[in-house]
Amino acid sequence: MESNLDDVRKDVISCTRCELSKSRTNAVPGTGQIETGIVFIGEAPGRNEDLQGEPFVGAAGKILSEALAYAGFSREDVYITNVVKCRPPDNRRPNKQEIDSCGIYLKKELEIIKPKMICILGNTAFGSLLGGGEITKNRGKVIKRDGQLYFVTVHPAAIIYNQELRQVIKDDLKALHDILDKIKKGIKIEINE
Ligand code: URA
Repeated sequence: MESNLDDVRKDVISCTRCELSKSRTNAVPGTGQIETGIVFIGEAPGRNEDLQGEPFVGAAGKILSEALAYAGFSREDVYITNVVKCRPPDNRRPNKQEIDSCGIYLKKELEIIKPKMICILGNTAFGSLLGGGEITKNRGKVIKRDGQLYFVTVHPAAIIYNQELRQVIKDDLKALHDILDKIKKGIKIEINE
């Protein structure tokens, strides 16, 4: 039987595949609309996400919502998820084993949604999805890999530590909005293969 996002959600909520399941309050499945085919992928839930069971509802979420609105996206019209669905203690970066064991859920989400565009938020998602290292060289660009389009930008939480990035993420998401408009109108866009 084919699975759908509700099945993935249920599987995430009851998952015990890694140690993070022992320290979490709630697992945090992806949320949002899938019809537009635009998926934003962050790193892992933080404290507020862990408490509420929803992605990007804390300080980083506020920055993401602000940048989405600035760029002309409605937060309700996109799908938002994370590479890892449970909060790593003290908000440390998830390790390889955690990323690998949680990967089945992200893979299923993407198989079901078949995104037109995946927006990578920050280094962890960049590394996990595209094997990337330095995000600064790739941010603001569209990358095509195995037939899938990706757009790369900084992680919203990075703005908490570096206010100069606040406008960077806004401008990147505005550029992404323009790119999606062009794709819709059949206008050629620059793609890095
Ligand atoms: N940071 C993330 O990467 N994801 C969240 O859901 C919240 C903060």
